[in-house]
Amino acid sequence: MTQSVPSLYERLGGHAGITRITRDLLRNHLANPLVSARYARSEDLARVERRAVEFFCAGSGGPETYSGQDMLATHKGMNISEQEFVAVLDDAMAALETNGIDAPTRTEVLGILWSLKGEVVRV
Ligand code: HEM
Repeated sequence: MTQSVPSLYERLGGHAGITRITRDLLRNHLANPLVSARYARSEDLARVERRAVEFFCAGSGGPETYSGQDMLATHKGMNISEQEFVAVLDDAMAALETNGIDAPTRTEVLGILWSLKGEVVRV
């Protein structure tokens, strides 16, 4: 008998789960002194949140389409530091934990986010 492994999208709770996780992620960023000013300065946080939900849904195997620019274009010219990058990953791990996502799944997400470092840090 074969057992199918649920996709990452499913393990994150699908669209509804990822929407909740993303809301907590942005809340964590706004409360994190290492990065809060970056997000507080955004002209349209509602758009950032909407796009982030799309990005995480599409990137984890969901049917959604990401309507934003790629990570390099999005973060180009921001001069984001390694410390800020780790802070954002810490906020992401905390948001996953708050939403009851298990440790193996959190580690999987961490690996995916880490793989984007070269498109975000000091680009
Ligand atoms: C792997 C890590 C990261 C991912 C996957 C990611 C993803 C995204 C996405 C999907 C957006 C929305 C783009 C849009 O609205 O079109 C965004 C925007 C943004 N990101 Fe990141 N990001 C990451 C790391 C960081 C880091 C480390 C910082 C710096 C603290 C940062 C700062 C921002 C800011 C300030 C915006 C909003 C820009 C605006 O208002 O237009 N990001 N990011």
